[in-house]
Amino acid sequence: MAAADEEQQLLHLKLAFLAREPPSCVLSLARKAGGGSVTPPVQNFILANCTGNNAWGDQKCTYVTTILKRIIAEAELSSDIVIDGLYEEFGQFMSSKSNNSSLNRTEKIYREISFLSPTDDNKLVSLVARLSCSTNMLEGDTGCSLWPSSLFLSEFILSYPKIFSKKCCFELGSGVGLVGVCLNYVGASKVILTDGDVSTLENMKANMEMNKLCVEKEGSQLLKENKNKVQCKYLSWEEASESVLSDCMPDLVLGADIIYDPVCVPHLIRVLSMLLRRGNNRGTNNVANKEEISNEFSSTATEAPVAYIATVIRNVETFNCFEKAAADANFSVVNITNSEAPSSLLPYMLSYDRSSVQLLKITLST
Ligand SMILES: C[S@@+](CC[C@H](N)C(=O)[O-])C[C@H]1O[C@@H](n2cnc3c(N)ncnc32)[C@H](O)[C@@H]1O
Repeated sequence: MAAADEEQQLLHLKLAFLAREPPSCVLSLARKAGGGSVTPPVQNFILANCTGNNAWGDQKCTYVTTILKRIIAEAELSSDIVIDGLYEEFGQFMSSKSNNSSLNRTEKIYREISFLSPTDDNKLVSLVARLSCSTNMLEGDTGCSLWPSSLFLSEFILSYPKIFSKKCCFELGSGVGLVGVCLNYVGASKVILTDGDVSTLENMKANMEMNKLCVEKEGSQLLKENKNKVQCKYLSWEEASESVLSDCMPDLVLGADIIYDPVCVPHLIRVLSMLLRRGNNRGTNNVANKEEISNEFSSTATEAPVAYIATVIRNVETFNCFEKAAADANFSVVNITNSEAPSSLLPYMLSYDRSSVQLLKITLST
């Protein structure tokens, strides 16, 4: 294997581990890096760059133990040598006290999502988002899990930064807040993340603080020179009114994996309508910005706000219900998944099926 390929594959292996990809995916990358089996050099790499890295404290115990166990079993089965360090590390984790605490439904895991640069053959990391996520997707934890649509929307933001740069961006159903980290990275003038679930909102705020994005407290003013400005707000689509949204005049509205419950669809459409309509009434706002906008998307050079919604169509009836309600609300919905495809910036995330995500561009028809 060429040295450059080997370097890239080892990087992918490390990033998959840090992103806490499922153990089977990490194993698969380890095998690939070893040319078909988890060779001693790959085991040494794992020890030096993944499992031996003590930065996560107790939290990583269960995950690391599983990875070590699977790698040792795989190497033994394939008659490869297992390096002593792996056995020692595994033994230490097994005897660790914290390993005794089994996962429960409220436990969170810490994930590092690294976006690779689209240039340099995917060998350089351009942005790392640090996120506390839920370990399961039971009811109530929906917003604390990371969904594929937010990965796709994040890739889109990082692939077309000029659309978002210097824009006021407003996200609905933000969950863990990954999209907010990306919007801040590309220089959005303002980032407002919202969610209608209180525990999700608390987790989102903690995540923004973990990424050193100053979370603007309700009623307080950030210093103008502070470039990291992310607001996290409670917003239930059912309760949202014109007066609640009166402070918000976003240029761009975003949403990832928010079309999944037919009961919520009418409320979602109503909120989208208020946000898109508010912008339409802005008169000559943003004239200065217009000059700076690139031609990547010709329609972003208009004053009307645009919504970008990424979604996985799990239930066709629910999606049809959204499309019908959108048409009734006089929305123009264009599927830009293929025409404006984002670069693949997460090639090491084998669990992320990009092909399942659709990206919609929504405007209010005049
Ligand atoms: C499937 S999760 C997606 C989270 C995140 N956007 C992502 O893609 O990782 C849906 C999110 O929408 C929020 N949500 C669902 N229904 C809502 C409603 N009626 N009002 C406000 N937020 C809602 C949930 O709390 C959750 O955070």
